[in-house]
Amino acid sequence: MKILILVHSATGHTLFVANELKMALQAKKHVVDLTPIVASDEKTQNESLISLSPLPTCAPYDLVLIGAPVRAFSATPAIKKALKQLEGIHGKNCILFTTEQLPLNFMGGNQAIKKMKNALLEKGALVVDSSIIHWNSPSKADAINAFINAVVQGYAYE
Ligand SMILES: Cc1cc2nc3c(=O)[nH]c(=O)nc-3n(C[C@H](O)[C@H](O)[C@H](O)COP(=O)(O)O)c2cc1C
Repeated sequence: MKILILVHSATGHTLFVANELKMALQAKKHVVDLTPIVASDEKTQNESLISLSPLPTCAPYDLVLIGAPVRAFSATPAIKKALKQLEGIHGKNCILFTTEQLPLNFMGGNQAIKKMKNALLEKGALVVDSSIIHWNSPSKADAINAFINAVVQGYAYE
């Protein structure tokens, strides 16, 4: 399969998960492109004040994985803006992931995933799975591995 990983990450946590996913999928012979979303301003919560690095079209891909951190109990302005701009996503299977510092899903993770999911549903994409990784959790590594295994097993190379 041809897989796109689109990731926004300000301090590297979500990018780490994205890179692990990439390596695991490549080991199963998938063709994987990883595109970081770089925002002109990481401090503002106002998405109209930021510009983004160029986004690829999702049209050539069989599966799109989208990751971004939690910010202020929601998704980041950069990922919200990127999902509005994203092209070629209609009808595509998508998997979402987020990283957050606080220990419980309702402390931002749920809201971030919901924001991203709704933005994708509006564009006719299909959200088939999602994961929230708690960066301070002692079981963080297990959570990352469980997520990666679920993605890899769900899309076994044929
Ligand atoms: C401005 C700001 C707001 C944040 N808000 C939250 C929050 O509401 N809930 C939470 O659990 N973590 C919050 N965090 C922590 C980040 O979500 C967490 O460190 C994440 O793993 C960072 O991912 P990154 O390294 O990919 O940018 C916030 C971080 C920053 C800088």
